[in-house]
Amino acid sequence: MKFFLDTANIDEIRAANEMGMVDGVTTNPSLIAKEGREFHEVIREIAGLIEGPISAEVIGLDTGSMVKEARVLAAIHANVVIKVPMTVDGLKAVRILAGEGIRTNVTLIFSPLQALMAAKAGAAYVSPFVGRLDDLSQEGLSLVEQVLRIYQNYDYQTEIIVASVRHPLHVLEAALMGAHIATIPFSVLKRFADHPMTEKGIAAFLADWKKANETT
Ligand code: E4P
Repeated sequence: MKFFLDTANIDEIRAANEMGMVDGVTTNPSLIAKEGREFHEVIREIAGLIEGPISAEVIGLDTGSMVKEARVLAAIHANVVIKVPMTVDGLKAVRILAGEGIRTNVTLIFSPLQALMAAKAGAAYVSPFVGRLDDLSQEGLSLVEQVLRIYQNYDYQTEIIVASVRHPLHVLEAALMGAHIATIPFSVLKRFADHPMTEKGIAAFLADWKKANETT
């Protein structure tokens, strides 16, 4: 399973990259705004740090604006993937951009038919938002399961990025289903490595080692 980091924060990307955990990065307008820096500059800096797809989202709502913004973003680096919202105009933009060899990530996916449409339009990736569905008492991960089945049934090459991840179980369940990618906030990713029994085991090993070396 590929791990993308769901952040626009350079320090977090650097730290996760040092752990070998960054196969790509996803950003969105909220994450970029949080950094208080110029959008294109942030994307350029991320592209210089990691090897792998970097999602940069368009702001425009009509096809023409989306395509225009996408071309500028795609020119920053070959790894830039254009995040396009799941709307009719967005689908039209995906189709045009696919024709130009520009990869897209259709975002704000909340239903399996939206994901099917995105794949048909030529999206390289789709982002189902599991956490935001859970917030509405709807099973976010069921959406991932359905999209996976549909893509397998018809052999679509579009990859699923499990997005809006809130806790480690989202990633575990998605990995068991065979989802291609999870995009994970750094605060959640860090928690995967921890286990109290690992810490207890290390402490016991070190204590035994110290005792043996004191007596010899
Ligand atoms: C990533 O592609 C999404 O924009 C992100 O995962 C959304 O996460 P949120 O629902 O926690 O804002």
